[in-house]
Amino acid sequence: MRKQFIAGNWKMNLTLEDAKGLARKLYDGLKGSDKVDVGVFPSFVFLKEVCDILSNSKVFIGAQNMSMEKSGAFTGEISGSMLRDVGCTHVLIGHSERRTIYQETNSIINSKLKAALLNDLSPILCVGEKQEERDAGKTREVVKNQLSEGLLNLTSEQVKRLTIAYEPVWAIGTGKTATPEQANEVHAFIRDTMRDKYDDDTAQRIRIQYGGSVNAENAKQLLGQPEIDGALVGGASLDSNSFLDIVSDAASFS
Ligand code: PGA
Repeated sequence: MRKQFIAGNWKMNLTLEDAKGLARKLYDGLKGSDKVDVGVFPSFVFLKEVCDILSNSKVFIGAQNMSMEKSGAFTGEISGSMLRDVGCTHVLIGHSERRTIYQETNSIINSKLKAALLNDLSPILCVGEKQEERDAGKTREVVKNQLSEGLLNLTSEQVKRLTIAYEPVWAIGTGKTATPEQANEVHAFIRDTMRDKYDDDTAQRIRIQYGGSVNAENAKQLLGQPEIDGALVGGASLDSNSFLDIVSDAASFS
């Protein structure tokens, strides 16, 4: 049985004071609960303070992106070892905003995944199709390609550290969610693809989160699907009550 994993992607939001306040509310709200894995992904510049506030909790802290390089003359970049240094254990890789706005290709994403694993960071690999790709019946093809190129040369041992987030691009920040059945179908396809690429044990262990306009109103239905093992939450993770409600919903399936 896979433990549900709820992650909050704070994106480029909040002030330092807001981020610290939100972290404190999560610390209080999650005390003593460990039925669900919970993670937060603040802006780079808030990581240290959020890590300090949550250091006595079980909440995972991660970055929203990282460099594929180890160190050196890469102005503006942040390495995996720097993330470890401030207390991160996780990192988002290949979020659709990185893919579309910053032109991250599957090959860049593959290099970043390798750099994350080398630094002992657990990645959440984001995949998902755009509206026009879904309309053209290409969802499976797009997702399969993101997985095969993104995971190139990664072993099953490495892949077991990974979480995959299925985030249909048309559902991110739009208020439009995939129906629970639509999402579950793609999750099942992702698990089958992992089984073909690796083995049944790897496919059964890997957690697949759904992301895209998840909120306290729709979470329960999505999380109740057999192939959905958690959620990657954007907008609703900025409000402690909504995020904690989503975590409680997930706990009811653990
Ligand atoms: P959203 O974002 O919940 O605001 O749609 C999800 C994400 O981009 O990870």
